[in-house]
Amino acid sequence: MTALRWLNVATETAREAGALLKAQWSRPHTVHSKGYRDIVTESDLAAEQLILSRLRAAFPDHAITSEEAGADAGDARVRWLIDPLDGTTNFAHHNPNFCVSIAAAENGRPVVGVIYDPLRDELFAARRGGGATFNGAPLRTSGATALDTVTFSADWPREPALRADMWRRAGTLLPLVRTLRCLGSAALNMVYVAAGRLDLYMARTLSPWDQGAAALIVQEAGGVLGTLAGVPWTLARPDPVAAATPALLAAFHAVSRENHQ
Ligand code: IPD
Ligand code: CA
Ligand code: CA
Repeated sequence: MTALRWLNVATETAREAGALLKAQWSRPHTVHSKGYRDIVTESDLAAEQLILSRLRAAFPDHAITSEEAGADAGDARVRWLIDPLDGTTNFAHHNPNFCVSIAAAENGRPVVGVIYDPLRDELFAARRGGGATFNGAPLRTSGATALDTVTFSADWPREPALRADMWRRAGTLLPLVRTLRCLGSAALNMVYVAAGRLDLYMARTLSPWDQGAAALIVQEAGGVLGTLAGVPWTLARPDPVAAATPALLAAFHAVSRENHQ
């Protein structure tokens, strides 16, 4: 019952923040640089304020980590992980691939996750042990097991040496798979694996708010998570690999071991 309430509040809040982003998406944006190749718009901040106020009102005892506002102090058992706008570079260029991501983690493990794509009105959600849904219907991965049937996607680190490494990894995979598609939103890439729209996804520099909700949705849709380094995935890992099946993750790691350290 408790996690169900968390899921309901997260869903309502993601829809509300998504509506705000949808209303602002096609308008001119105020864009600020917040780091090397890293930008933020006024809409990231407005969506974040809305989400923070809803979650603080509903769960005053919980902690929150949110991309732009940072982390609450405290060691509450439950911590919310918020990315008010995943895909800011897309949003700032009026590219439609972006979403809201809200997760609740208990003792460091995601237990509730919601991703909302407001332009397509697509809601991906999961509760640990309760399955994953897409607009209310059950969600499953493609079930792909062999690399030669795979459409994979990747995210590109901002830092040049890490980006070059990812480029080499993608270059190793590309001749072995069906094709490559990249959305420019880590959370959408991951939930597209959950939905069977993609089969495999890899990244190197993600934060907990990028992946908390989407990772749970992948797992509850029957997919698996690993890491580029070949060690078990946790929320703190920056280098998730999401795969439709354990067999596919094993095939990916076999190729990685052979070609990359
Ligand atoms: C970014 C996006 C992008 C990924 C970056 C993330 P933001 O998040 O998910 O696809 O490559 O690593 O930081 O800044 O748009 O929320
Ligand atoms: Ca993000
Ligand atoms: Ca963001």
